[in-house]
Parts: sequence; C-alpha cells; structure tokens
Amino acid sequence: MHEILAELEAKRSRARLGGGQKRIDAQHAKGKLTARERLELLLDEGSFEEWDMFVEHRCTDFDMDQQHVPGDGVVIGYGTINGRLVFVFSQDFTVFGGSLSEAHAEKICKLMDQAMKVGAPVIGLNDSGGARIQEGVASLGGYAEVFQRNVMASGVIPQISMVMGPCAGGAVYSPAITDFIFMVQDSSYMFVTGPDVVKTVTHETVTAEELGGALTHSSKSGVADLAFANDVEALAKLRHFINYLPANNREKPPVWPTEDPADRMEMSLDTIIPNDPNKPYDMKEVILKVADEGEFFETQVSYAKNIITGFIRIEGSTVGVVANQPMVLAGCLDIDASKKAARFIRFCDAFNIPVLTFVDVPGFMPGTSQEYGGIIKHGAKLLYAYAECTVPKVTVITRKAYGGAYDVMASKHLRGDVNLAWPTAEIAVMGPKGAVEIIFRSDIGDAEKIAARTEEYRKKFANPFIAGKRGYIDDVIMPHSTRKRVARSLAMLRSKNIENPWRKHGNIPL
Ligand code: HXC
Repeated sequence: MHEILAELEAKRSRARLGGGQKRIDAQHAKGKLTARERLELLLDEGSFEEWDMFVEHRCTDFDMDQQHVPGDGVVIGYGTINGRLVFVFSQDFTVFGGSLSEAHAEKICKLMDQAMKVGAPVIGLNDSGGARIQEGVASLGGYAEVFQRNVMASGVIPQISMVMGPCAGGAVYSPAITDFIFMVQDSSYMFVTGPDVVKTVTHETVTAEELGGALTHSSKSGVADLAFANDVEALAKLRHFINYLPANNREKPPVWPTEDPADRMEMSLDTIIPNDPNKPYDMKEVILKVADEGEFFETQVSYAKNIITGFIRIEGSTVGVVANQPMVLAGCLDIDASKKAARFIRFCDAFNIPVLTFVDVPGFMPGTSQEYGGIIKHGAKLLYAYAECTVPKVTVITRKAYGGAYDVMASKHLRGDVNLAWPTAEIAVMGPKGAVEIIFRSDIGDAEKIAARTEEYRKKFANPFIAGKRGYIDDVIMPHSTRKRVARSLAMLRSKNIENPWRKHGNIPL
C-alpha cells in the first residue's frame, strides 16, 4: 500500500515539474511565473482542486511518442476567489511551449463543460505557442472545440482571459470571444500573424510588442481591456475584478458589506461644472464621488477615453457605469467610444448588472474618417445595446445632451428607468451656437444679432426644464444629492422585470 501511495506522490511530483527545472528557470528569467505559481496567486490558499494531471498527448509523429509530460501543457481545475467558485486553466509554457494538442484542448473543454453545468466563471491564463505543430489538424480541431464552447458560454457564465505570454494565430480567437481580455506588459502579445509574416506581406518592420503587446491592445486596438505591469499585479487585480461579477446569468452580482452611507451628500459636485459650457471637467471625479468608498474598477482605461466604462458598487451591489468624458474630445461619441460602451452594456445586461449612465455629450463626432469608418453602424451598436438592455437603467445628465447622442445615452425613450438631470443640464437638438447659425443663417454677418439670438436660444433650450415639462427626465436634482438619488432609484429597481419579445436573436449592426 505504502508503495502505491509513494508511486502516486512521485507521479504527482513529476507532473508538477512540468517541462523541468531548466525551462522553469527560463520562464522566470523572462519575468514570468509558471502556470502553477500563477494559480497559487490567483486562487484562495489551498482551494485549488486539480483535474487531469495525468493526461498525456497521443501523438506519435516526430518522435513525440518519446516525449510525454503528464498534464500536457495545461493545468486545469477549480478553486475559489474570496470564497467564490471559479474554474481555471493555466497554460504551461514549459511544456512544449504551452502549445495546444488534442489532449490539451480536451482538458480545457472538459473544464468549460463543467463550469457551464454548475454556472461558474471560467478564467484562462494564456501562455502558449499556439497549435501543437507536431499534431497538425488534430490541434486545429481542438481549438475549434474550445471556440464553440466559448460561444455557447457567452452570456451564460463570465469568461475572462489573462494573456500572460504568446497568443498568436487562430489561438487569439478564444480570448477574443471571452468577455474580458487582460494582458501583461512586456511578456504577452496577441496577433493573427507575427512580425515575420507582416514583414513579408506588407513590408512593415515591427516588433512583437509593437504589433500585439499589452499597450498596443489596451490603447490602440481595444482588443485588451487592461494592461498590467507584471504577473503578480495582474493576478491580484483579477481577484479584485472577479468580486464584481455574478457567477452566471441567472444570479445577481454579489453584495459586499459597505460602511458608506447611501445618502452621503457630496457638496463638491455642486461646483464641478464650470461656468463656461465649453470648459471640460473630469467625469471620473463624479463617478468616484457617487461610488461606495470611492472605488471604481475602470475597464479599457486607455482606449476611447472619451467614454468611461467600469464597475462601481452602490449599497454594496455592482453597478456598471458608462459616462461621457468631457476631458477627451469634449466627450463626443465616435466609433471607438460607441463600440467600447456598447460591448460593456451588453455584458452588464447579460449578467444582471444595472447600468448607470452619466451624460455630457455634445453629439457624434463629425468628419470623413468617422463616416468612412462607419460611425453610422458603430453608433447604432450603442443605441441598440441601450435599447435591448433589460437591466435597471439610471441616467444622470450633468451637462450637454445634444442631438442623437441625447437619445442614445440611455434616454427615457430607450427605456431608461430613472432619468435625472442636474440643473446645469442642456438638453437640446444641438448647442446654441450651431443652432442659431442654421436657423438664422441670414443674420450670420451681424455679430450682434447672432449673439442675441444665441443668448435667446441658450436661455430657452440650454436647460433641463423643457425636457422636464414633457417627463423626458423624471427630476432635476441637486448635484450634491446624486449618490442618494441614484441609490434610491437602484433600490426601487431591484425587482424590475421586463422581457424582450421572443426571437432567435436580434440582428445588432455588427
Ligand atoms: C510545439 C512548440 C510550439 C508549438 C513552441 N514550442 N511553440 N512546440 N508546437 N506551436 C516549443 C518549442 O519547440 C520549445 O521547445 C518550447 O516550446 C519553447 O519555445 P521557444 O521557441 O524556445 O521559446 P521562445 O523563444 O520564447 O518563443 C516562443 C514562440 C515560438 C514565439 C511561441 O516558440 C514560436 O514561434 N512558436 C511557434 C508559434 C506558431 O507558429 N504556432 C502555431 C501558430 S498557428 P523546447 O523543447 O526547445 O523547450 C496556430 C493556429 C491555431 O496556432 C489555429 C486555430 C484556429
């Protein structure tokens, strides 16, 4: 008996060593942790239950029958983060470069199938050289099996990808389907074709980091949601992030204890809007002052900064925030901002997270680059996302709400549940200057007349009361009472229950 137990322990030790000490040292030399070290940091101490430690590949080509590493390059299992169940796979770069064999893919699929059965998030720690080259099409088939499960799990359980090493070729499409992609600076990259192929085809010279590094994807392409400095920071932030999410689409997000009173007044908000309507102010300040304990987990911090997205809590419950940022492009909606916010709203809607929208938007961004880039279809994504969304929607108009952008930003007409405005709100078809130059075009040469007309228009329309008269907003509120009013609205909406008409699926303008 003792012998058998010792044999098991020996087998386990062998599996835990992955590709061997030399390769582990090489991994460390690159500033990366190993697959198992990452799991230790991510999960609550001692909570990890590993599966499939003894799985091996079945390839016999290219001398592969001589090379077997138990586990086959991916560590899978389940554990807890702050006591809440999660399923995790962690690719082991020390074993065949973390490349995906048929067996490796089967392990990931098994994990995903189980996560779907019990309704818990799947976290992927990606660090892989892609398809196991020795296995050819079997490995491609494995990828497609994972993709199919990613799609079926979309909107059912949260799926999060932490890219911590290479992720290239078709392999990028599994993370791409997941809800959030986080990356680690200087050690991770994602691209469909690498620098060498780029050089051959387009004659561009570009490094892997420039082409698909964490900063590229978190600021230029928007593929990644956030970039972290190193593995340790990334895993700590991931633990923090998971705290905001429900386990699945049938559950509400967790409620965490808070000492922050829901009726806390914030007098500084009464003076945050500058006297000059063209002067910016930082909308993040408004968000932080409304949030429990001033805590805000911002997503896509460096991408499309003209719109802010992220999670706060109010009375301990998760709330998704979408806010125009007047500090960047005056808070205009452009292609990137529309896509960023639309995807965020759809995530919130899928996972029962109420959406709080702060509006200060002068309109959609004009220009050929926007029109040629398809702002019509991309802007429509945002409209579509708000309109189809059935979770509680609370909107606060702080200043400008002009034109189509007024409609789009969670207006009452798109089933906004509670729409509040600060007294500084300007709800109109367009800004006073632009409006006057169109309706009084013949007066354009007469500066005095135009100034008088502009003032008249400003007085008449640049306020929240015209919309208030029609019930397009529910109340004009004191800025200092915003947290209290939002908290009460969300509390009232807790039992909201509406359904969209039955259909196979809508046809969002992709
Ligand atoms: C098998 C692989 C591998 C792979 C790496 N290795 N990638 N083994 N299949 N895809 C092995 C190496 O042989 C090496 O083994 C070990 O992993 C570490 O690799 P190195 O090259 O020494 O490491 P490094 O210099 O850090 O370079 C990492 C790398 C490079 C950039 C990922 O290995 C590389 O370019 N690999 C091939 C990438 C690729 O073309 N993959 C297929 C993409 S197409 P030893 O024994 O020496 O330690 C694809 C299609 C998916 O994925 C389609 C889905 C639809």
